[in-house]
Amino acid sequence: MPWIVGVSGASGTPYAAAVLRGLLAAGEAVDLVVSRASRLTLLDETGIAFRDAHWQEDLREWLARGADGKPGTFDVDVSGVRYWPAGDLAAGPSSGSYPAKGMLIVPASTACVAGVALGLSKDLLQRTASVTLKERRTLVVAVRETPLNGQTLRHLVTLDDAGATVVPASPAFYAGATHIQDLVDFVAGRVLDAAGVGHQLYRRWRGDLGVGRPDQ
Ligand SMILES: Cc1cc2nc3c(=O)[nH]c(=O)nc-3n(C[C@H](O)[C@H](O)[C@H](O)COP(=O)(O)O)c2cc1C
Repeated sequence: MPWIVGVSGASGTPYAAAVLRGLLAAGEAVDLVVSRASRLTLLDETGIAFRDAHWQEDLREWLARGADGKPGTFDVDVSGVRYWPAGDLAAGPSSGSYPAKGMLIVPASTACVAGVALGLSKDLLQRTASVTLKERRTLVVAVRETPLNGQTLRHLVTLDDAGATVVPASPAFYAGATHIQDLVDFVAGRVLDAAGVGHQLYRRWRGDLGVGRPDQ
């Protein structure tokens, strides 16, 4: 059964790339939904214009890119990915009877958080999130905005109450980050942790102060 990954239009397409690489490296099947707005963030952050008709080619190029923007940093086999256009409300993941382990929304915009909290289902991404909640499956929401207004905070509490795990895209510095990729991988690793998917994306805290300091 696949994990469904929803990429919404918040800044942070490198987080999505790192989660997708992590799932594929763990041997997981992936269903991918890319919102209309996230094409703008992807274009802005990577220069890649994501096309439905050439999604495999564009996804391969995206996942190969490092968080520093360097092309060809990673060698990723995307054959384990099934892609669904965000406007396709008849797609498999729009039904609870479609088999799936759960859904990871990375990054999640505040608009997406609101839409899922209110059950708007305005596109396939939001519909799939609603389905995931109604089927009591794992839903991980990696929200990316700062500062957060009261509305979004209330929506996040609603999602938490509904059983979702809210994982703010908030990198930590105890794991020995020396490059942008390390900070990105920390967030991606915490998203995968919330889904129970094994990975080696960051160094875990073991109780020893200072071990992860870059000058050690
Ligand atoms: C370059 C760019 C960066 C953005 N960054 C964020 C962000 O970090 N967080 C956020 O909540 N919205 C951000 N937005 C706004 C969302 O894209 C917008 O609210 C959109 O309606 C989200 O739609 P979606 O949830 O369907 O993807 C950004 C927009 C652009 C163009």
